[in-house]
Amino acid sequence: MSDILSELEARRANARLGGGEARIEAHHAKGKLTARERIELLLDDGSFEEFDMFVTHRTTDFNMAATKPAGDGVVTGWGTINGRQVYVFSQDFTVFGGSLSETHAQKICKIMDMAMQNGAPVIGINDSGGARIQEGVASLAGYAEVFQRNIMASGVVPQISVIMGPCAGGAVYSPAMTDFIFMVKDTSYMFVTGPDVVKTVTNEVVTAEELGGASTHTKKSSVADGAFENDVEALIEIRRLFDFLPLSNRTAPPTRPFFDDPARVEESLDTLIPTNPNQPYDMKELIHKIADEGDFYEIQEDFAANIITGFVRLEGSTVGVVANQPLVLAGVLDIDSSRKAARFVRFCDAFEIPILTLVDVPGFLPGTSQEYGGVIKHGAKLLFAYGEATVPKVTVITRKAYGGAYDVMASKHLRGDFNYAWPTAQIAVMGAKGATEILYRSELGDPEKIAERTAEYEKNFANPFRAAERGFIDEVILPHSTRRRVCRAFASLRGKKLSNPWKKHDNIPL
Ligand code: HXC
Repeated sequence: MSDILSELEARRANARLGGGEARIEAHHAKGKLTARERIELLLDDGSFEEFDMFVTHRTTDFNMAATKPAGDGVVTGWGTINGRQVYVFSQDFTVFGGSLSETHAQKICKIMDMAMQNGAPVIGINDSGGARIQEGVASLAGYAEVFQRNIMASGVVPQISVIMGPCAGGAVYSPAMTDFIFMVKDTSYMFVTGPDVVKTVTNEVVTAEELGGASTHTKKSSVADGAFENDVEALIEIRRLFDFLPLSNRTAPPTRPFFDDPARVEESLDTLIPTNPNQPYDMKELIHKIADEGDFYEIQEDFAANIITGFVRLEGSTVGVVANQPLVLAGVLDIDSSRKAARFVRFCDAFEIPILTLVDVPGFLPGTSQEYGGVIKHGAKLLFAYGEATVPKVTVITRKAYGGAYDVMASKHLRGDFNYAWPTAQIAVMGAKGATEILYRSELGDPEKIAERTAEYEKNFANPFRAAERGFIDEVILPHSTRRRVCRAFASLRGKKLSNPWKKHDNIPL
């Protein structure tokens, strides 16, 4: 018996070595943790249960039968994060560059199937050169099997991808179908084809960093939702995000103990709005002052910063926040901000996370670049996302809510449950200057008259009361009481039941 046990230990030790000590050393030298070290940091101590440690590939071409590392380049299994179940896979770059073979894919598919059946999220740690070239179509088939599961799991269990090395081909398309993608600065890349292929096909010379580094994907392409300084920081932050999310669409978001009075008064909010309506202020200050303990987990912080998206807790329960940011482009809605917020709203709705919308929006951005880029279709995404969402929706208009953007930002007409406005709100078709210039075009030569008309418009329309008179605003609230009002509103909506008419699926403008 002791021989059998020691053989098991020897086999386990060999499997744990992945591609061998020399490759692990080279991997560490790049500032990267190994596949197993990453799992250890991500999960609660001692909670990891591994599957398929001894699986090997079955390829014989390219003399592959001579090298059959146990585990075949991916570590899979389940464990817990702060006591809540999660399935994980972590690709091992020291084994054939973390490339995906038929058996490597089967290991990932096994834990994805279990995650779906048991209602727990999947976290994929990606460090892979994509389809294993030596296996040809068998590896492509493996990827397609993973893709199909990504699609079926979408909206059923949260899927998080962490990119922790150079990822190419299928290694980026699978993450692209998950809910969130996070990268590590300077050591992770995502591209469909790498710089060498780009040079051959298009003659373009570009570095890996420029083509698919963390900065490119968090600031330009918006493929990634955030980037971290190193592996350790990334994994700690994923644990933090995980705590905000429900395990599946069958369970409510987690409720954590909270130590912040829901009725906390914030006097400073009474002076947040500057006297000059064209002067910006930081909407994040309001978010932090509403949230339990000021804790805010921002998503896509570096992209389309004219809209803010992320998670807070109110009375311990997760709430998704969407807020216009007057500090950037005056908080205008454009192509990028509409796409960013629409995807976030749909994530929240799919997983029953209530949505708080904070509005200060001067409208949609005009101009040829927006129109040629399809702002009509992209703006419609956000409108559609809010309109189809059945989760509790609470909206607070702090200042401007002009034109179509008023409608879009979780207005009463899109089934907003509580629509509040601060006394400083201006709810109108457009700002006073623009409106006067259109309505009184014939008087434009008389500045005095126009000033008079503008002042009259401001008095009559630049306020929340016209909307409140019609019940489009449920109540005009005092800024300092916003946390209390919003907490009470969400608390009253805990039993909300609303469903959309039956359909196979909708046809959101893509
Ligand atoms: C087999 C691979 C591999 C792959 C890397 N390796 N990618 N083996 N299949 N796809 C191996 C290398 O041969 C090498 O082995 C080891 O992994 C480390 O790779 P290096 O190139 O030395 O590392 P690095 O310089 O860091 O470059 C990493 C890389 C590069 C950028 C990922 O290896 C690369 O460009 N790989 C190919 C990427 C690609 O085109 N994949 C196919 C995509 S098609 P040795 O033994 O020499 O150390 C695809 C289709 C899916 O995925 C469907 C999509 C819809």
